[in-house]
Amino acid sequence: MTDRYAVFGNPIAHSKSPRIHAAFAEQTGQTLTYEAILAPLDGFAAAVAGFRDEGGRGANVTVPFKEQAFALSNRLSERAQAAGAVNTLTFDAEGVLGDNTDGIGLVNDLAGNLGLELAGKRILLMGAGGAARGVVLPLLEKAPSELFIVNRTAAKARELVAPASLPASFNRAGKALKDTVPSGHNAGATLAAGGYADISGRFDLVINATAASLAGDLPPLPSGLFADGALAYDMMYGKDTPFLAFARSEGARCADGLGMLVEQAAAAFFLWRGVRPATAPVIALLRAG
Ligand code: ATR
Repeated sequence: MTDRYAVFGNPIAHSKSPRIHAAFAEQTGQTLTYEAILAPLDGFAAAVAGFRDEGGRGANVTVPFKEQAFALSNRLSERAQAAGAVNTLTFDAEGVLGDNTDGIGLVNDLAGNLGLELAGKRILLMGAGGAARGVVLPLLEKAPSELFIVNRTAAKARELVAPASLPASFNRAGKALKDTVPSGHNAGATLAAGGYADISGRFDLVINATAASLAGDLPPLPSGLFADGALAYDMMYGKDTPFLAFARSEGARCADGLGMLVEQAAAAFFLWRGVRPATAPVIALLRAG
């Protein structure tokens, strides 16, 4: 029987994941199927269990089920624990292994496809929800000089970096932060947080991990925050966002989240199949429409 994989979400009709994984499978000569499954808002766990019973080998999970996927996993990777959310499930004899490839997807897109060296750079991360939380540790691991997390509700951003109040789900990550950032430092990186009024100086990389783009809103960024050659990165893809339009008008280089989407898929594919697909041709394929 052909190995089956799927992505679960709600809504899911416009997911690009089936196309991405079909391209990976073709490119690497792997025989598998990958489908999009619409799970009822109150029926995610049952939908996953049904898929597994029918012989499903693994699944990706997208909005709004990443926290539920975290909860139903009986084993978690360190990066899933750090993110408090799961986007990749692997079904095996021992149960359900939950992983999170979003952070590595972003970092691989930045370093691999966009040629950005993160070490020693100042990074501004906008947002303090699940999307932001998933990328904090992978970014810190690249040893930037500073990671400043900014959020409309400043207290939520401060919570994200406060060692004392890190949620239990941060586990190892929380421990790493507790061990190394009592004075706001992690392996040479200053980790700080605040509101938009607290933004100061110029940044080499500004990442939009807020839901503002979805609503067509621009977070209240000050003018002049981009350093020379800075990159503005919006996790959203598919259309120009107010944030990227602002960044362009400020002279920054712009990137949307399509590369991150393909890179997180590649990391999941590697986890399931043990084969690393080339991502650049698949990104090009999706850009072509
Ligand atoms: P996700 O899982 O996608 O991160 P979330 O947990 O709902 O979604 O978080 C949404 C994030 O976008 C939050 O950081 C939110 O800011 P608040 O914590 O202050 O609500 C941010 N956000 C949403 N709309 C925004 C807007 N119009 N301007 C700025 N930030 C916004």
